Amino acid sequence: MVIRKLSVIISLVFFVTISLGYPQSPSLHNKRTQTFNHVLLISIDGLHQKDVDVFTTSNPNSNLASILKNSVYFTNAQAALPTDSFPGLLAQLTGGLPKTTGVWYDNSWDGTFFAPGSKCKGSPGLNVVWDESLDVDQTVLNTTINQDLLPLRIDEEGECVKVQPWQYLRVNTVFEVAKKHGLKTAWVDKLPAYSIVNGPSGKGVDDFYGPEIASLPDKTNLTQVEPYDNYHTVSILNWIDGKTHDGKPFSVPNIFGGNFQSLSVAQKSSSNVTGFIGGYVDANATPADQVKNALNYIDGILGKFINELKTKNLHDDTIIVISAKHGQSPIDRTLFKKIDPQLLNDTIGADKLNQITTDDVALIWLKNHSDSKTAADSLSAKKDVLGIAEIFEGDSLKAKFGCDPNTDTRCPDIAIRVVPGVVYTTSKKKIAEHGGFNEDDYHVPIIVYNPSIQQKVANDAVETRYIAPFILSALGLDPNELDAVVKEKTPTLPVF
Ligand SMILES: *[C@@H]1O[C@H](CO)[C@@H](O)[C@H](O)[C@H]1NC(C)=O
Ligand SMILES: *[C@@H]1O[C@H](CO)[C@@H](O)[C@H](O)[C@H]1NC(C)=O
Ligand SMILES: *[C@@H]1O[C@H](CO)[C@@H](O)[C@H](O)[C@H]1NC(C)=O
Ligand SMILES: *[C@@H]1O[C@H](CO)[C@@H](O)[C@H](O)[C@H]1NC(C)=O
Ligand SMILES: *[C@@H]1O[C@H](CO)[C@@H](O)[C@H](O)[C@H]1NC(C)=O
Repeated sequence: MVIRKLSVIISLVFFVTISLGYPQSPSLHNKRTQTFNHVLLISIDGLHQKDVDVFTTSNPNSNLASILKNSVYFTNAQAALPTDSFPGLLAQLTGGLPKTTGVWYDNSWDGTFFAPGSKCKGSPGLNVVWDESLDVDQTVLNTTINQDLLPLRIDEEGECVKVQPWQYLRVNTVFEVAKKHGLKTAWVDKLPAYSIVNGPSGKGVDDFYGPEIASLPDKTNLTQVEPYDNYHTVSILNWIDGKTHDGKPFSVPNIFGGNFQSLSVAQKSSSNVTGFIGGYVDANATPADQVKNALNYIDGILGKFINELKTKNLHDDTIIVISAKHGQSPIDRTLFKKIDPQLLNDTIGADKLNQITTDDVALIWLKNHSDSKTAADSLSAKKDVLGIAEIFEGDSLKAKFGCDPNTDTRCPDIAIRVVPGVVYTTSKKKIAEHGGFNEDDYHVPIIVYNPSIQQKVANDAVETRYIAPFILSALGLDPNELDAVVKEKTPTLPVF
């Protein structure tokens, strides 16, 4: 009796302690056996699921092959559409698609925004661009955003205000949820506007670093991009060591990571000046020299992270998630076909257009939403010349992307899926692109690694947006603290 009473008191005290310690996280002790203190998220931009198979088969002693031995490897994962870096990354960090995040591309239209410096005068509507064009000086690696170049909007009080990158995002990020629970966060990406990952509060990331990739003399040259990626590597190694990205005192972040560009550059650029060839040699994703080089380079980086985690006794306590913001299309170079994006303009009529965003995709915002059926018909009539496989407009757009241009000021009127291999560009160097809706654009791997995980190849149909709720549950936090997870009912990755 006494013993029972005592144990009730003890469990009561224990319960109160837990509740006080983690008032907003009831799931923490429920999922104790599955929780880790750190999640390292790595995005290898351009990485196809096929690349993982080809690389690990021909390099059985590689770091990646050894990582797979303690991973759940999702072979049937899809990146968010459009397969641009912005929506791609935000899916992983919010759990949401563009219909929810409001972020369709790094350059896309918002019908209510005003141009920088306009004082919100004139008629609203702006192509909002989140890239190096916002920098104080884009030739400087450690540049920052020039506040005078930010887009403007009229806020709830009727004031004309600047919009910071993170204020453009409509939902919170995993970093903001982590901060709410007193955890530490850090992220490195390819330019300052990626500070959007902070989330709407602007305070999600304790240590953000966005060295400007456009500061390289030639950002399509792998010989320059690998040393650039090294800034990202050094940042992550410093975080594992409990320092800031630039080596000042910090503590090991609970959610941290970054992206790597080398592979994407190697896939996209022909760079055949010295016979050092980009892309793939066949449709099976057998890499040519540059892609081979980039994959080896990335593999070396992964090895460095694992070694550093081991050295710092953090290996058991860290989940590593390896995925990609997007793939790259086409793998099969014989399919590559350039089409001048001006042809799309001419077909619709430049006077009808607000904005066309093109890569191996076209997103079209019209001046008058009522023109969308007519515009889609004109495109359809020339679909062979324009390299169009499928046109999304009206009901089909709503079905594919879940938004309506009549009610959402950022939703495009028309989206085009190209015939695989088609890229709207006039570039002489390009041999592939991303942004589009074909398999080579979206079929990426998701690899979840920890030394305690038993090797598993999972062919569940999963999406990169499942990564966000997974990150939170791996830390013992509630995925439903993410706005997008609630709105889209985003499931987590079936790892445990
Ligand atoms: C790529 O960059 C390296 C280093 O700056 C340079 O030596 C090389 O000539 C460049 N290659 C091409 C094809 O421009
Ligand atoms: C930019 O910042 C990084 C990391 O803080 C530092 O290592 C590098 O020296 C800086 N580069 C320049 C050119 O200032
Ligand atoms: C690369 O350049 C070499 C020498 O000019 C040429 O023989 C070869 O066909 C080119 N390869 C590709 C894939 O463009
Ligand atoms: C197409 O039309 C838009 C909107 O009128 C214009 O800004 C753009 O420069 C045009 N050309 C291309 C190639 O997109
Ligand atoms: C938009 O197009 C519709 C149908 O052609 C037309 O009735 C309407 O007046 C147009 N709206 C504007 C603002 O031009």
